[in-house]
This record gives sequence, C-alpha cells and structure tokens, in this order.
Amino acid sequence: MLTVMTTPNPTARFEDLLSTRARIGWGGSVPTARPVAKPLYEFGGGFPDPASFPYDGLVEATRKMMDAEGADALTYGDPQGYRGLRELICHKYRFYENLEVTPENIFVANGSGAALALAFSAFVDPGEPMIIEAPTFSGSLNNIRRHGPEIFGVPVDGQGMVTSAVRASLEKIKRSGRRCKLIYTIVNFQNPAGPDLSIGRRRELIELAEEYDTFILEDDAYNELRFEGDSKPPVYALDRTGRVIRAGTLSKILGAGVRLGWLCAPPAMLPAFQGFNFGGGVNPFMSRVATYFLRDNMEAHVKVLVGVYRAKRDAMLRGLWEVLEGTDVEISRPQGGFFIWIKLPSATDVARLEQLALEARVQYTPGGAFFAGTGGERHIRLAFSYEQPDKCYEGSCILAKAIRAAGRS
Ligand SMILES: Cc1ncc(COP(=O)(O)O)c(C=O)c1O
Repeated sequence: MLTVMTTPNPTARFEDLLSTRARIGWGGSVPTARPVAKPLYEFGGGFPDPASFPYDGLVEATRKMMDAEGADALTYGDPQGYRGLRELICHKYRFYENLEVTPENIFVANGSGAALALAFSAFVDPGEPMIIEAPTFSGSLNNIRRHGPEIFGVPVDGQGMVTSAVRASLEKIKRSGRRCKLIYTIVNFQNPAGPDLSIGRRRELIELAEEYDTFILEDDAYNELRFEGDSKPPVYALDRTGRVIRAGTLSKILGAGVRLGWLCAPPAMLPAFQGFNFGGGVNPFMSRVATYFLRDNMEAHVKVLVGVYRAKRDAMLRGLWEVLEGTDVEISRPQGGFFIWIKLPSATDVARLEQLALEARVQYTPGGAFFAGTGGERHIRLAFSYEQPDKCYEGSCILAKAIRAAGRS
C-alpha cells in the first residue's frame, strides 16, 4: 500500500525582503465579500451564468482553429496580443458602439482586471492623487489600493459619476500643487450602483480632463448586455486630444475563465503597458479559440445572453419588491449588466441582516466593499448573473424577508 507522506511546509522569513510595491497594504485585512461558505443563493460575485457558456461552440472553434493555425497557436505570441483578437475587438466596438479604432490601439491582457492593473502600474505611484467613483467595483478598488495612490472618491447618482464633484476634487488637487494622474470611471451599468454615465457628463469629463491636464480610464465590462435603452457613445469616442484609455473584457460575453481583456489606447502609450507584461503575449492559444468562436457567433450569442440576464434581473426585482413594497428601501433597476444595488430601509440592523442571510445561506456583498473610505454601510449589492431565474426569485424573497426581519421596530 502506498503511504502518503505529508511534508512540513516551512516558510523562511521573507517579509523584510519584499519590494516596496509588495509592502503596500501587506498584512492588512481586506473585508471579505463572501461571508457564506457554501451559499444556496449565490448573489455575491459577478459570475457569468454557467448554463449559457457555449460549450459545444468552443470545442468546435478549437478544432477549426487548430486545423487552420497548428503550431502558431502553441508557440509564443505577439507581445501586443493575437492580431485576430485585436481585429475582432475593433469589430465589436464598431458593431455595438460605433467606435472606430484599429488593432494598433489594442493591448491584450489577462482579463480586464489585469488590463486595469497595467494602466495603474503605468500611471500611478504611491501617494499620488487619483479620482475614482464612490462606490466603485471592489476588485478595481483592491487593485488600486495595491498601487498606493491617494484616493479621491466622488459620488455616483442616477447619471453616473457626479462631474461637479470631479471638478471639486481636481481643483483641490491642483491647489495642493499636484496633478491628478487618472480619473477611473465605470461608464455602463456602473458596478455596483447601476447607472450609465450620461452623455452630457461624458463630455464634461473630457473637458475636465483637458482643463486639468489629466487622463481618464474608462472601464466597460458590460455594454453588450443591455436589456433596455440606447447605448451611449464611449468616452473614448468623444475624446479629441488622446487622453482616454478604455478597458474591456470577454469575461461577461464568453466566459470569465478565458481570461481575456484589453486596453484600448493611443498607440504611443502601449509600450508603457507592455513594460509591465511578460514576454510571449497574453494567452495566444485562448485568444485564437475565442476569436474563432466569436467571429462566427458573437452577435447571436450576445442576443441569447441579453435574454438570459434580463429574465434574471426581472425575477430578482420581482422577489425584492413583492416583500419590500411599502418600506423606504431603494432598489436600483439597471438597464443591463449583472448587479442590483440596494439602499436598505433606514431601520435595518445590518449586523442582524448579515446573520439572517448567513443562516439562510444567501450570499451578497456588503456595501462597504465598494468604498475606499467609509460609506456603503446601509447598502448591499446583489448579483443576479449566476443563479437561474427561479432561484433569483426565491433567494431574493428570502433575503427581502430577512431585511424586513432585521428592521429595528
Ligand atoms: C466593472 C468591471 N471591471 C472589470 C472587471 C474585471 O473583469 P475581468 O478581469 O474578468 O475581465 C469586472 C468584473 O466583474 C467589472 O465588473
């Protein structure tokens, strides 16, 4: 019989040797966004719907791609990313957003999380000022924290990032003798609050960036998943002076496991990102599989996904309102994307709600995860993307009852 040997797993003291970058935030605790270990209702992370992954289509695309590309698919790739994928991204932008760019504008990365990290690495040093939304996507926030900037949070309302508050922050930074490095904004179905940045504010943001001589990092992960309303022009398309960088991803329309995202930027800037990447290009094999699949199927597949996610949003909203009608709760109704943002009734005992949700095994993300400083104590974010509509309805009813039960009366 084979005896399994367990080896000790010692770690020599390494903390003193860590780089300055690695020491930023080292040892601090990041508040957990996932308090329920094995949820019955997974409304926590922005996970795409596994039932709608194109399993057969990807197998077929892989075979077709291997027949056509053979060894090219399995060797090192272009440092900027597989050209076919960069062309496909240009087509996607033209088709859905009327945005004209060339493959020379696109830099492929390991998901848009890594793409955003490249932009932060290229522009942001510890202690330097940067403007972000409050609330903003928790993943980006943790990413930004690792770069150690001084964060200026500006509020988000029904029209997205409040540009008058951006101006106030830019003015404050200028008066302190400094210059804002980046303004980071999530323009479509803002994560977590839900609104699109209005066209007027998109224009204002560019005017502000020009006036204060700074750059805008426009994050769009969800534009194609629009259930209602018209798509708005990307900030990138409105810019005339080349001061916008745009991040995108295939995670939400193909599968987060393909780990393919990108930055779209003026070509002269791309070497600044490449300097923080590894050799060999990002995932040349999977870039080809994704390209072969999406070339033939993108529009039809996205159409299916829009129907899938709309049904989930509607089911979740129905469950919430059936139980919470008559309270002073505020519930967003996003026109697309993955998330519902809730301002809990004023009487809610948030700790009690957490306990009740834990017992019912309903996962959600507490609002505090989306703020750099204080804020969000009375908010929670629900993702409707992962569970099927019947579970979105059932789980949101259970959670809404917990919200009522957590009311201090
Ligand atoms: C607004 C936003 N940006 C970026 C990302 C990162 O996505 P990925 O790294 O999977 O491309 C997400 C994922 O949830 C997101 O919601």
